[in-house]
Amino acid sequence: MYSELNGKVAVVTGGGAGIGLACATRLAESGVAVGIADIDSAAAEQAAQTLNSQGRRCMAVVTDVSQPAQVAALFQTTSEAFGPIDIAVNNAGVGSPLTPLGDTEETDFDRIMAVNLKGVWLCMREALRHMTPLGTGSIINMASALSTTTFPGSSLYTASKHGVSGLTRSAAVEYGESGIRINAICPGFISTPLLHSTVTEEAAKAMAAKHPMNRLGSPAEIADAVVFLASDASSFVTGSLFSIDGGWTAT
Ligand SMILES: NC(=O)c1ccc[n+]([C@@H]2O[C@H](COP(=O)([O-])OP(=O)(O)OC[C@H]3O[C@@H](n4cnc5c(N)ncnc54)[C@H](O)[C@@H]3O)[C@@H](O)[C@H]2O)c1
Repeated sequence: MYSELNGKVAVVTGGGAGIGLACATRLAESGVAVGIADIDSAAAEQAAQTLNSQGRRCMAVVTDVSQPAQVAALFQTTSEAFGPIDIAVNNAGVGSPLTPLGDTEETDFDRIMAVNLKGVWLCMREALRHMTPLGTGSIINMASALSTTTFPGSSLYTASKHGVSGLTRSAAVEYGESGIRINAICPGFISTPLLHSTVTEEAAKAMAAKHPMNRLGSPAEIADAVVFLASDASSFVTGSLFSIDGGWTAT
């Protein structure tokens, strides 16, 4: 669909499952060579193996996005294998138990911020270090509907995702003339392992009802937007928080 993506190089964090796997798959199908980064080595290896068996160009890079040295190694390894990084999809994230703020735990705060906020910051910083000398690139952060609204019990996750929107908008303004575009996608509730591991099926139904479309989204519906933001079709789009949420945040 976006032929100019053919031959480009991307890093997708959290690429072993859920939304990240869908993004890696759609990019690879568009001819992009993808460094699939995940803390779960088996998931990353499986994703790369499956895509390569279909004639795609992917490699697994085991990475904990909260660790600066591992993030630097991810970008270095991917660029050494495939060439300069054109696209960074900073998607890895963790959920939080649904808990009123007064009952939240410091360990949960630290874990959620380390992956969802520090991890995105580290990946953005590394992507900018690679892209700035080239004067081109697209950085796509996986934010959330909870970057602009909230949901009872989600204060820590909501705070981390509001942080992602702040990083996205600030960097887009700072790098406006650089040739590097920086955007975030704000999904509503998407049917992935993360969602189903943190809530009961009954709660998942209640989440579906949050969207005027009265269903959960699919990972592929998010991946389609990632490919758009990676492509020249979005050449005048930077600093945007792209809602893909079945109308939730319009209510
Ligand atoms: N599923 C939803 O409803 C939903 C909604 C809005 C936003 N999001 C966001 O989308 C992103 C992907 O979510 P998902 O639902 O696909 O999750 P998922 O759990 O299905 O997949 C996340 C992947 O990230 C990996 N990961 C976790 N911690 C990591 C770390 N420290 N370093 C590297 N990889 C790590 C996991 O191993 C997993 O493969 C997250 O940032 C999430 O917050 C999800």
